[in-house]
Amino acid sequence: MTSDICTKRLLLRPIALDDVASLHKIRSIPDVATQFSTGAWADEAAAEEWIRTMIDQPASLMYTIRLLPTSSTTNPPAQIIGLMGLNRWGMLHYMIDPTLWNNGYATEALHAFKAALFDAQPERTVIETIVAGGNCGKD
Ligand SMILES: CC(C)(COP(=O)(O)OP(=O)(O)OC[C@H]1O[C@@H](n2cnc3c(N)ncnc32)[C@H](O)[C@@H]1OP(=O)(O)O)[C@@H](O)C(=O)NCCC(=O)NCCS
Repeated sequence: MTSDICTKRLLLRPIALDDVASLHKIRSIPDVATQFSTGAWADEAAAEEWIRTMIDQPASLMYTIRLLPTSSTTNPPAQIIGLMGLNRWGMLHYMIDPTLWNNGYATEALHAFKAALFDAQPERTVIETIVAGGNCGKD
């Protein structure tokens, strides 16, 4: 299950080393970084190491989230707006660029990811995640 996933507005693409700069930029935004117990990545080398782990670890299945072109855009957008997938421990991990929050992108990406994951792993019964202290989602 390593192919692209398309939704109405989004393209979920398996994470790659080329994504370092975009993901480092989003993860460095304080509103995003504070929601991860490990905070922001120190630099792009740390981001690259994290991405390499996502690619190498069997439990991980991580996708970048990109916006699909709309009728008002002429070229396919290359812009990565976030992440959705399973991390090295097989836990759900996600982030969206704060400038795009509350547009339903994380919800749309999660629905598509979840469907693809359960199709690929029919023996799976749950998806788990851990959220940082202070994140109201933990309650
Ligand atoms: C969580 C996150 C991915 C949501 O992205 P998004 O694209 O804005 O999400 P959606 O638009 O699909 O959904 C927003 C909904 O989630 C709710 N929501 C957002 N963050 C939440 C949180 N921490 N706890 C509970 N609900 C939350 C919003 O209130 C909104 O609810 P509504 O639809 O009832 O109005 C984004 O806020 C983010 O990147 N946060 C920082 C990273 C993070 O928290 N990652 C999880 C750590 S494990």
